[in-house]
Amino acid sequence: MPDTDAKDTKNYYLDVPPRKEAFFLKGSNALDWGMQNRLARIFRPDTGRTVMLAIDHGYMQGPTSGLERVDVSIVPLLPYSDALMLTRGVLRSTIPSSYGRGIVLRASGGPSILKELSNEQLAVDLDDAVRLNVAALAVQVYVGADFETQTVHNMTRLVDIGYRSGIPVLGVTAVGRDMVRDARYLSLSCRICAELGAQLVKTYYVEEGFETVTASCPVPIIMAGGKKLPELDALTMAYQAIEQGAAGVDMGRNIFQSEFPAAMIQAVSKVVHERMKPREAFQLFQDLRGRERIAR
Ligand code: R5P
Repeated sequence: MPDTDAKDTKNYYLDVPPRKEAFFLKGSNALDWGMQNRLARIFRPDTGRTVMLAIDHGYMQGPTSGLERVDVSIVPLLPYSDALMLTRGVLRSTIPSSYGRGIVLRASGGPSILKELSNEQLAVDLDDAVRLNVAALAVQVYVGADFETQTVHNMTRLVDIGYRSGIPVLGVTAVGRDMVRDARYLSLSCRICAELGAQLVKTYYVEEGFETVTASCPVPIIMAGGKKLPELDALTMAYQAIEQGAAGVDMGRNIFQSEFPAAMIQAVSKVVHERMKPREAFQLFQDLRGRERIAR
């Protein structure tokens, strides 16, 4: 029995319609509460975008330049990231468990750079992903490569596994050695990932037609960084990707291989969250670089 007098309806706000709030991310409205909550640990709800710092390169290429000592080079950058993409080995050994943002766990692997890269298998169990309280699982999908079907199957299995505990899956469109990296190919890869269940997709930026890649993918696309570019070029690429529909960036080498990584990630964040123009962001990078140099 309610403990209030039935005639006193003040606290029932009968004139206020129930609050209905659509989830802020594209294609994610029908997902369960836990999955949406995890996505909100990756993407900032106030902007709907993310700056994910990718440091998982060692899973197939060993101690990558800039990642030799993650404790020294990466841990100081964590406060500027919205999410962190990495392996469970580096997560457990090196990342403080007080890191409160989204962990995107590398969940596929197998071959090193000495072998056929597309020959990957799933490399993490659901139990461990739950134990690590991850916000998403990441899996490489090699459309057009030798082991295309195997990697697509890795992803679909991971999507099923993820649904058991409400963990979303990031489909990473990997480009095989002889593949042409253009909008047509990337649209094909991204759409396959989304159609087969990935709740978010990571892909490369292309100068021509990137807006068709984002438009034809029903879930959020995060731009992969790729090889190290001069800072202004990397900021310009991030700006264009956001303007053309990307929901954020997942950048590694263009941040941690910069001589001034803290300045660079802050400039990238301004581009992603505030749509700061590339030249202005580069100016900010230069100002912050001066301070980073003094602090050393
Ligand atoms: C590739 O898929 C790796 O998992 C990296 O996370 C990815 O390449 C992003 O790093 P980068 O910006 O250095 O390309």
